[in-house]
Amino acid sequence: MQDFAVVCEQAARAAGKELLDWRGRFEVREKGPADLVTQADLASQEVIRGIVLGAFPDHAFLSEEEPNRPPAGGYRWIVDPLDGTMNYVHGLHGYCVSIALERDGEVVAATIYEPQYDTCYSAQLGGGALCNGKTLSVSRTQRLDEALVSVSFPPRVTRSSDEVLNFLEVLETCRGVRRLGSAALNLSYVAAGQLDAFWATETHAWDIAAGLLIVREAGGIMTAMDGGPIDFNRPKFVAASTPELHTALRARLRPGTP
Ligand code: IPD
Ligand code: CA
Ligand code: CA
Repeated sequence: MQDFAVVCEQAARAAGKELLDWRGRFEVREKGPADLVTQADLASQEVIRGIVLGAFPDHAFLSEEEPNRPPAGGYRWIVDPLDGTMNYVHGLHGYCVSIALERDGEVVAATIYEPQYDTCYSAQLGGGALCNGKTLSVSRTQRLDEALVSVSFPPRVTRSSDEVLNFLEVLETCRGVRRLGSAALNLSYVAAGQLDAFWATETHAWDIAAGLLIVREAGGIMTAMDGGPIDFNRPKFVAASTPELHTALRARLRPGTP
């Protein structure tokens, strides 16, 4: 397990360096409306692939910009080579590399690396969560009106969508709502106790696999909208620091279109 964690962090740090190197010289392509990809995403992905498959050639590799999408089973790396691409493209902070290692459907090691600040969030199953070597703990917030909450929206939302209706509902009931532009960093901030909760109705396995382990190992709760297990094929989830807050936030949210 130790080797897995070491390789995971090594790959995330090397990929983060690649992202910094590409700043100011990448071209942007639209994969879909408001859904961006750059050469930096692809270069980061190749660095990660080289390191993790170099160390573990028999493992499967699921990554956002890779068309081959292996199913769960055995060891599978789940990679977002650049989470927060929109921030990155606009020269804004709030982007990272997210890498998780799954064993038979369960995440066992995870790293989220924010290269601009050299901040590394990591966790191993049963081993707690760390940020640059310091133990992470979620906040103790139990009440929605004392909670700072964040949300991720899909690239395009309409004003009548469940996403927007949920946003308005939570906005009226919690202390504040944030949209930071990186699902992986939102989860890291919940683990660090800087955010109290986070929800999203349209994400992918690579956005949240590493964050799931980091939140749980920091003492937080993360489930599907109905309180059940998260389906990595279609993740809709609520993460929160305490059971009370998790229940209170879920009660305010519509699950979104199936
Ligand atoms: C996106 C970010 C964003 C979330 C989107 C994701 P990307 O990932 O995590 O916060 O709202 O749903 O697609 O495209 O920057 O890797
Ligand atoms: Ca992402
Ligand atoms: Ca990405």
